[in-house]
Amino acid sequence: MAETIAVLSLKGGTGKTTAVRTLADVLRRIGLEVLVLDLDPQGNLSDYFDVPSDASPTMADVLAGDAKLKDAVHGDGVVPATPILAEAERSLSGKMGRELVLRKALKGARKSYEVILIDCPPALGLLTINGLVAADWALISSEAQYFAMQGVEGALEVVGQAKEYYNDDLEWLGVVLNIADLRTTHSREALASLKEHFGDKVFETVIRSSIAYAESAERAISILDHRPDLGADYLALADEVLDRVGLDHARAQLKPMLAAAG
Ligand SMILES: Nc1ncnc2c1ncn2[C@@H]1O[C@H](COP(=O)(O)OP(=O)(O)OP(=O)(O)O)[C@@H](O)[C@H]1O
Ligand SMILES: [Mg+2]
Repeated sequence: MAETIAVLSLKGGTGKTTAVRTLADVLRRIGLEVLVLDLDPQGNLSDYFDVPSDASPTMADVLAGDAKLKDAVHGDGVVPATPILAEAERSLSGKMGRELVLRKALKGARKSYEVILIDCPPALGLLTINGLVAADWALISSEAQYFAMQGVEGALEVVGQAKEYYNDDLEWLGVVLNIADLRTTHSREALASLKEHFGDKVFETVIRSSIAYAESAERAISILDHRPDLGADYLALADEVLDRVGLDHARAQLKPMLAAAG
């Protein structure tokens, strides 16, 4: 059964999609069967994985009940999203069981993969709820700014509600400080306040900020190849994630890559 991880944040632009993309890259390189789900009508994750914009069916068809999830898997294992997903979300809102649609659709696929990563949109609406209700784990990506704490608390509230009402199995995997420049006071303060409030739920790994991420997205080259020195952050984060979800055999596979990255 796949370990299913939803990546979310209250605010936009906290590095969620980059995290899903890069963690998927790392996990695939160590031989895990990984499926990624794009739950964001912006479709950034689908672009990262180079899914053609006319690929069909998509996440919108799955949520509308018009396609099976396995038929919406494209390329290396991506269920893509397009702007039509926003419409699917609106039509869902009037339906009975609207929070459970993705969970039901994902049931079969969970047997075929080892890890499923869900990229949530930067809003805590029905799409994010569907992601959380379908997941075993919630991974919060936090901006390295003054209001980091409030953002994490807001996201945690939604995680708590998803757990209470629809998915008792949901656990908080942790919070990662993302796009951080620890040379600046505000990044350091954001990290300190997260650690003070959330203790060891805060990942040891901090994802450093670099313009290289924008270049890597533009050239469609994984940061792992474009700038392995920076990609090392994601190797370390993947190691912590595998530890927390209990995939120890996979951690052993990752060891040589971690060692090579120094
Ligand atoms: N570690 C990083 N350092 C610098 N820039 C980054 C880093 N990670 C991602 N970025 C850039 O920041 C922008 C936002 O990243 P990304 O799309 O991953 O965030 P997001 O949380 O998914 O955004 P949204 O909320 O809109 O879905 C992108 O331009 C991306 O290339
Ligand atoms: Mg995104």
